[in-house]
Amino acid sequence: MPDIESLLKEKRVFKPAKDFSRQANWNKKTAAEYRKLGEKNPERFWAKMAKENVSWFTPWKKTLQWKPPFAKWFVGGKLNVSYNCLDRHLEGENAWRRNKAAIIWEGEPGDSRTLTYGQLHREVCKFANVLKGLGVKKGERVALYMPMVPELAIAMLACTRIGAPHSIVFGGFSAEALRDRINDAGAKVVITSDGGFRRGAPFELKTAVDEACKGAACVEHVVVVKRTGEKTAMKAGRDQWWHELMDGASADCKPAKLDAEHPLFILYTSGTTGSPKGILHTTGGYLTHVTTTAKAIFDLKETDTYWCTADIGWITGHSYVVYGILANGATTFMYEGVPTHPGPDRFWEMIDRWKVTIFYTAPTAIRTFIRLGDEHPKGHDLSSLRLLGSVGEPINPEAWMWYHRVIGNKKCPIVDTWWQTETGGIMITPLPGAVDTKPGSGTLPFPGIHAAILDEEGKDVKPPNGGFLAITHPWPGMLRGIWGDTERYRETYWSKWKNIYFPGDGAHKDKGAYYWIMGRIDDVMNISGHRIGTMEVESAIVSHPDVAEAAVVGRPDEITGTAIVAFVTPKGNVDAGPALADKVRKQVTREIGAIAKPKDIRFTDALPKTRSGKIMRRLLRDIAAGKEGVGDTSTLEDFSVLAKIRESDED
Ligand code: WT7
Repeated sequence: MPDIESLLKEKRVFKPAKDFSRQANWNKKTAAEYRKLGEKNPERFWAKMAKENVSWFTPWKKTLQWKPPFAKWFVGGKLNVSYNCLDRHLEGENAWRRNKAAIIWEGEPGDSRTLTYGQLHREVCKFANVLKGLGVKKGERVALYMPMVPELAIAMLACTRIGAPHSIVFGGFSAEALRDRINDAGAKVVITSDGGFRRGAPFELKTAVDEACKGAACVEHVVVVKRTGEKTAMKAGRDQWWHELMDGASADCKPAKLDAEHPLFILYTSGTTGSPKGILHTTGGYLTHVTTTAKAIFDLKETDTYWCTADIGWITGHSYVVYGILANGATTFMYEGVPTHPGPDRFWEMIDRWKVTIFYTAPTAIRTFIRLGDEHPKGHDLSSLRLLGSVGEPINPEAWMWYHRVIGNKKCPIVDTWWQTETGGIMITPLPGAVDTKPGSGTLPFPGIHAAILDEEGKDVKPPNGGFLAITHPWPGMLRGIWGDTERYRETYWSKWKNIYFPGDGAHKDKGAYYWIMGRIDDVMNISGHRIGTMEVESAIVSHPDVAEAAVVGRPDEITGTAIVAFVTPKGNVDAGPALADKVRKQVTREIGAIAKPKDIRFTDALPKTRSGKIMRRLLRDIAAGKEGVGDTSTLEDFSVLAKIRESDED
């Protein structure tokens, strides 16, 4: 994590190139105009965007109804997200897009499929009818647990077509995690596949669904996409193949006219306490936010081949692989597998072969590529690229400069975009044709977004001091709540200050009013740009019968940004050592998924605690980062002496 000291020393400034600005969707003039309007009257700004970028069946009556902390945007308006992503590209002056590529997909083994807007529309209508045939009604939830295949996007759009909110669970999560999410959302149908390809081999998904369904009575149907062709057990009466259901389905399905505040999807994300939160997003505001930001920040043009490397199972994939991109009528490229298969140059080879023009990825990936060596990108023609993006965690200036130099050939603007699952769309970002960039800074809030750096009391912190990032005015893509838990919504986001949203990030502004995001200030870790709660990992570990107690903290890691370190106290009669460490890792993989597996496991006969019984997390973080003592997994470490020295400090 970059510290304030080193970031304050960052003085490099990159101005947008004249020829980029000249052709940009939002040039300096429009950007300045929108910024002014957004500052003075955010509602008017967003209403203008909603009119320009989104198609409505019925216009709204009131732009914003704000009864803190509950917002309603575009009250009374009616629309449909799948209509906006598909139908409107087949009508009127856009009708030529019928045979334009909507999705270009490549599987890890090298197979590929292209779906034009016309074809995608047909598939979505058919699958919407399949869902109806399975008894899915407006408002009923559908869970999606799939690899990165076009059917995932088809299923999402089909859900929105009939007004069934989807809940996508990233394929890397375990059966246990899937079961909890299915139950919390009360999903009636689960859509999955026999598996997918990763690192050169097929992986399974359906068995996890079977496992999850054992404890999920709400599930009536499971639809299975055939992807790998591996042997798959099908439960009679519950499971059906996607292709068989699609075979007889009609391609005629009218998009439902949905209220602007109709639930669009639920997406679970980790918090500081307890179980993951089901973040709820609704229709009109979300679509306005993601469509507008995609157009302005990625400068989407008809001729672009846009590639966001995120899995659709995360918010980045929802907003900027699928909805924001297709709503603009652009071509979205989708890839199934890992960046390093069959070789370390897979991404660059694909950019070259498909002539990708816009590339949006995460700092953790960039740092991995740096380590793999410049010869891999340099061995391919990347001259098709015209814009680069970064998302998920703070990008360190060195990684930014490498991205700029080696991937962008010093000619591509870089947009470092700050946002969250909860914000729905991008919040703080450069506008590529209008805003000077500084390596490591997200620059300025998007027009219509009101941000600040505040202290505990909610007072403005003077630049360049650090404080809490805050969003001081509602925005259209904001979460509307936590599924089934209004109190937690209030408590988590709106209790720190009055009527101001608390994102949980530390940040500071420089003298030029640029934002520099420092990362999470709570007990949430950011592993490779993915959020994992320390408590979640701790409860997974203590669910193992050999473990008495556990504390989990993050430590800096060169590639993943943060690595998970678990301090584990075994039960009295259990030996500490590699065998137990292995069991602990397996337990976490079983309970949550491999992404939450601790990198370091350190055994201790007791966790350091304050007199009041609180685990001394700051001490553990220092120990984990190697500031105190040396780790050795074969013996029990004793932190009691350190704890005594530190006690007054932590209390
Ligand atoms: C957290 C949100 C929506 C992006 C994918 C992650 C961190 C995200 C940046 C950035 C610095 C960033 C924050 C935020 N983060 N983007 N450009 N610079 N930090 O979504 O899982 O909801 O995590 O990711 O800490 O709070 P998420």
